[in-house]
Amino acid sequence: MPFEGIIAERYPKTVSLADGKELVLRPLLEADQPGLLDFFKRLPAPDRLFLRDDVLNSDVVASWCKELNYERVFPLVGLIGDRIVADITLHRQRGGWMRHVGRVRVVVDPELRGRGIAASLLKELMEVSLEIGLDKLDAEFIAEQTAAIESFQKLGFVKVCTLPQHALDLHGGLHDLVLMVYELKDEEYYAGD
Ligand SMILES: CC(C)(COP(=O)(O)OP(=O)(O)OC[C@H]1O[C@@H](n2cnc3c(N)ncnc32)[C@H](O)[C@@H]1OP(=O)(O)O)[C@@H](O)C(=O)NCCC(=O)NCCS
Repeated sequence: MPFEGIIAERYPKTVSLADGKELVLRPLLEADQPGLLDFFKRLPAPDRLFLRDDVLNSDVVASWCKELNYERVFPLVGLIGDRIVADITLHRQRGGWMRHVGRVRVVVDPELRGRGIAASLLKELMEVSLEIGLDKLDAEFIAEQTAAIESFQKLGFVKVCTLPQHALDLHGGLHDLVLMVYELKDEEYYAGD
């Protein structure tokens, strides 16, 4: 099914969190630019340091919202009320060696972590990834992001390698880069809920 069809069929989607709050999932829209920038401004500096892009740069956020191409990058936001509280993206290469792999990046509002929001967004993206024929997901971490690495381990990702001094942070500091992989077609996944 073409991506537009998947989007029309699945979203908006409401998920109940363990604390009873309702999380609405939907693709990022051009009109989300101010809300997405506000969301990134709420992130603590150490989190922002380890993100791949300078998310306080309004031009960067504006380009994400304006140059939407869901086939290449599929950004899904989680909202509580009208506030963006999480952002997950699925990055795809349409050709080449890694056309069967999707890369995931996810950030959750610091005040709302530990409530299953990343788990809900990842589960959703895993279902979409299977629907569009991907075999695996991967995610990259700066080695110091130990809590995030542990979270992904609990969500089924496996740490496959560490590339020494492979990441350069926004301030020019070098860090080891950890690569984690999730096998979408594992039997265990199909056996899950
Ligand atoms: C990593 C991150 C996305 C997790 O989001 P979250 O909404 O708090 O995660 P969830 O509540 O869905 O928890 C997922 C699992 O991780 C565990 N977890 C959550 N926070 C954790 C922590 N600080 N340390 C260890 N485990 C943790 C949860 O217990 C849960 O495991 P379970 O299913 O066995 O209970 C969030 O901390 C974040 O935005 N970090 C900054 C950005 C980042 O590093 N992103 C990852 C790079 S792609």
